[in-house]
Amino acid sequence: MKLFKKPIFVSISPNAQAGDVFLAIKLVLQPWRWRSGGAPREFAKKLKSYLGIKNVFLFESGRTSLYAILMAIGLKAGDEVLVQAFTCTAAVNPILWVEARPVYVDIDSDFNMSPADLEKKVTPRSKAVIIQHTFGYPGKIDEITRIAKKNKLLIIEDAAHALGAKYKSKKVGAFGDAAIFSFGRYKIMSSVFGGAAVTNNPDIARNLERSVDGWDFPSTFWIFEQLFHPILLSVTKPFYNFFSLGKVAVVIAKKLKLISLSVYSEEKSGGKPPFGPSKMPNALALLGLKQIGKLTRFNEHRTSVANFYKESLFRNSKISIVEFPRSSEPAFLNFPISVQDGDLVRQLIKEGKRRGIYLEVWPAKRVIGPSGTDLKKLGYISGSCPKAEDLSARSLVLPTSPNTTMRDARRVVNLINDFFGK
Ligand SMILES: Cc1ncc(COP(=O)(O)O)c(C=O)c1O
Repeated sequence: MKLFKKPIFVSISPNAQAGDVFLAIKLVLQPWRWRSGGAPREFAKKLKSYLGIKNVFLFESGRTSLYAILMAIGLKAGDEVLVQAFTCTAAVNPILWVEARPVYVDIDSDFNMSPADLEKKVTPRSKAVIIQHTFGYPGKIDEITRIAKKNKLLIIEDAAHALGAKYKSKKVGAFGDAAIFSFGRYKIMSSVFGGAAVTNNPDIARNLERSVDGWDFPSTFWIFEQLFHPILLSVTKPFYNFFSLGKVAVVIAKKLKLISLSVYSEEKSGGKPPFGPSKMPNALALLGLKQIGKLTRFNEHRTSVANFYKESLFRNSKISIVEFPRSSEPAFLNFPISVQDGDLVRQLIKEGKRRGIYLEVWPAKRVIGPSGTDLKKLGYISGSCPKAEDLSARSLVLPTSPNTTMRDARRVVNLINDFFGK
C-alpha cells in the first residue's frame, strides 16, 4: 500500500536535509542577509580549492554563468557554438542571448557528445564547443580536445551535472578554457538556484570580470522564493503518496509565486528568465556553503547507490546501462537507463507512481527539455541528431541523491526487475 510508504524522488528537493531546511528558515527571518554579504566570497574560495581552479565567479544560475563566459570570450553575431543535443534550454539559450548560433552535435550511447559527429558539424564559422558531462559522466575530453585544437575552437565544459566528477584522476571543469557548474535544486549540491563560471585562463577571467561589472543581485522577492523552496518541500514531500496532496500543495505554491519555477515560460522559446543575469546573492551562497561541506559525502553516497544499481541491473537484458571507461569517475547525478521503446518508459513510470516511486525522464522525452520547449526557436533541425532523438524517447533516470537511502534504491531495483522480469 503506497499510502504508508516513503515516496522516492529523483528531483523533488533531493539534496535538502534537516540542517539545510533549518538554515533556510533562519535566513527567511533575516532579510538583511539576503543580498550582500561575505558568503559569496567564502563560497568561491571553497570552490577554488575543491576544484583546483584559479578563478571562480558566482551567479544566480548555471545558465547565467554560461552567458557570462560566452560574453567574455567575445562571440560575435553569427558565430557558431557546437553543443550536444540531449540537453536543456538552460544549456543552449545563453548562445542565443549573445546572438551566436547553436549547432547541435549528436550523442553516443553514454549520453555525451559524439566526437565523430562533432567533426562533421564543424564549419569555418565554429568558434567554441561545449562539452557537457551528462548526468555527471565525463564527456570524451581527449577526443573532443583534439578536434577543438585542430579547428581552433575554444572549449567550454558544461559541468552543471558533474561537480566532483573526475577524468584521468583530475576533476572536470579544468580541462577546457572555461567551465560552468550549477547549484540548482536538482544538481549534485544545491543552493536552490545558483551557478559558477570558472577558468584558469587569465584573459577570460579579466574579460569575465569586465563583462559582469555592474550586474546586480536578483530581486529580494526572488531570493525569498528560493529560501522558501526547501522549507515548503520538506513539509509537502511526505504527502506525495497521500492522494497526491504534496504535489497539489507545490502546484498551488507555484501559482501563488511562493516558490519559483526552475525554467520560466519565456526560456522555452529562447528568451531570458526574469531573474537574470545577476550575481549570486548572499543568502544562496550561505545555502551553498552549508552544502559544500557535505559534498564529498554526497558524492560517495551517489557512487554507492549507482554501483548498487549497476550490480543489480546489468544482467537484465531488457535495459541498457552506460559503460564508462576506467579513466572516468562519474559524479552520478542520476543513474540513466534506456529501454526498448518510449511506451515502456511510460508504463514503467506509471508503475513506479503506483508504488510511490517517482522516476523521471531527462530531458523530457525530446532532444532539448523541458517539455514545451520550441525546438525550432532553439535552432534544432529535426533529424540532425538521430541518436539523441532515439535515446531521449526511451531513457529515464533513477535517483541517486543524498536523500535516496540504500533501502529506497532496493525498492527501485525491485520495481524494475518486477516490471521487466530478471
Ligand atoms: C546540462 C545543463 N547545463 C546547464 C544547466 C544550467 O543550470 P541552471 O539550472 O543552474 O541554470 C543545466 C540545468 O538546468 C543543465 O542540465
